Amino acid sequence: MSYLYTIDSLEFLTSPKGTELITVIDESLVDTKNELCLISKLSKKYESKYIGAAMDLVLNRKLGIKKFTKAQRMFFTKDALEQSSNEQISFYRAGKFKNLSKVCDLGCGIGSDTIQLARYCKVVAVDKDPIRLKMAELNAEVYGVRENIEFINMDFTSEAVPDCDAIFIDPSRRIGDRRVFSIFDYEPSLDIVKDLMKKTINVCVKASPGISFEGLNQLGSCSVEIVSLNGECKEAILWFGGFKKYYKFKATLLPFQKFVNDRWLVSRPEISVPQKFIYEPDCSINRAHLVDQVATRYKLNKLNHSIAYLTSNSDINEVFFEKFEVIDHFPFEESYLRKYLKDNGIGIVEIKKRGVPMEVDEVRKKLKLKSKKRSKMAVVIILTLVDDRITSIICKRVS
Ligand SMILES: C[S@@+](CC[C@H](N)C(=O)[O-])C[C@H]1O[C@@H](n2cnc3c(N)ncnc32)[C@H](O)[C@@H]1O
Repeated sequence: MSYLYTIDSLEFLTSPKGTELITVIDESLVDTKNELCLISKLSKKYESKYIGAAMDLVLNRKLGIKKFTKAQRMFFTKDALEQSSNEQISFYRAGKFKNLSKVCDLGCGIGSDTIQLARYCKVVAVDKDPIRLKMAELNAEVYGVRENIEFINMDFTSEAVPDCDAIFIDPSRRIGDRRVFSIFDYEPSLDIVKDLMKKTINVCVKASPGISFEGLNQLGSCSVEIVSLNGECKEAILWFGGFKKYYKFKATLLPFQKFVNDRWLVSRPEISVPQKFIYEPDCSINRAHLVDQVATRYKLNKLNHSIAYLTSNSDINEVFFEKFEVIDHFPFEESYLRKYLKDNGIGIVEIKKRGVPMEVDEVRKKLKLKSKKRSKMAVVIILTLVDDRITSIICKRVS
């Protein structure tokens, strides 16, 4: 709960005078140095209890641009914004609810998922936090879907969940400032899925991409979709009951709308030394344990069975991978690597590691790299296992 915002301050902020205050702040607050001066000027015209909320909102709207196309008109607290789904992911996920008539969004926060669901069906948006709920309502107006949504302020663990033909739930994964990783520490605990399934067979849960798959089995059978956005792992979508798919694991790469699932043909990749290119699968593919599937499809070898670096002489352009062109490779030995970089005029390098015990920052310090100005070439060093040998692979990022 944010103490800057109240139902009263939200009403003010949406009034013509509130909109005027927000505009003045937005235009004046170019840096935080003039904040005090601005507050004293504004307090001559506006009540001080609204100035703090308006300032906070202006800052949150700027942060919100990363997630929402209409952030400049939306309402967020900083926490609620951080916990909200990215609009592109909400839009993609909501598409799976297309043929349903009424969906309950349990724990709707500031409404990112509610808004996208409401493009396709009636939504009952529930949150125990009245301020977030009010913000969700205001945000739904911004997106023009308000009339498709009923907003209910309640605790859905103690009161009956409204009748519906599907449930979407996005539990909090924080206790205070601390992130929690076990699905049983989420708020509410994902134990609740079993009860929700008594209400409707169509249950979808948004969880962290780092979710423990072992813990999941205790909730019943589901399909797991790991979603990345622009190469960053964002969420695991758990599809239960009527939503369950023909696969157990799927990787979804947004915004590309590219998918891999565990029904793809798979064989055990061959192991080889680095060839002309190294391919690093998208984090969603790695997280969904689908590296061997893409290796099989694109005829790629692995450097080591348990490590997600693939290699080939073929030049493949696919969003499934980051591509690196190999310049050289040799067994890892610190003094040899340092001399190699020096002899070849290599400065500022990006160091990546997988499956080896060294710390990147330590290695970087010991390599005593040249400054950007004095270096002829910038490379990527991959420290990893080739078969069972720690190896330095010197390469160039090509995508
Ligand atoms: C991760 S946020 C949801 C974010 C939302 N999907 C969005 O994109 O904006 C979780 C929300 O669940 C709400 N919540 C947690 N437990 C609840 C409960 N028992 N009843 C109602 N709301 C709850 C919290 O107040 C919070 O707003």
